[in-house]
Amino acid sequence: MAAKQFEMYECCSQDCDLIVEVVQPECCEQGGEFTCCGEKMGRLEEKTADFKTEKHVPVVEKVDGGVKVTVGSTPHPMEEDHWIQFIEVCSAGKLYRQYLKPGDPPEAFFPIDADGLVAREHCNKHGLWKN
Ligand SMILES: [Fe+2]
Repeated sequence: MAAKQFEMYECCSQDCDLIVEVVQPECCEQGGEFTCCGEKMGRLEEKTADFKTEKHVPVVEKVDGGVKVTVGSTPHPMEEDHWIQFIEVCSAGKLYRQYLKPGDPPEAFFPIDADGLVAREHCNKHGLWKN
C-alpha cells in the first residue's frame, strides 16, 4: 500500500525509538515499506478516542494571538518514562510542530488561526493522537 503524506512510521524494535514521517507521497504501488533494525516499520494509527483515564486527544483553544493545544482534557503526565514528545498543527498548508521534553507542560502555543486546523500529538507510550 502506498504511503500517504503526513503518515508516520515507527521502528518495531523495543530498543529503538525511530519515527519517520512521509513528507512527499510516492507515486508507485510498491513503495511505503520502510525498515529499521532489520524489521518492517509499523504505521502509527491516528487514534481519536480515549478509553483510559489519562487523556491523549489534543484540545484546541483559541487564545490571544493564536491557538493553544493541550494534551488532553485531563493533563497528560510529562514524566521521564512517559511524556508527550511533540504537538503539531496543520493549517492552510503549513505544518507547525512543538517538541516537548519530560517536565514541560503538555501544551503548545501556535500563532495561527484556529479555523479548520488539525492537531496531532505523540505520546512515547501510547502513540499518535488526533483531534
Ligand atoms: Fe500516554
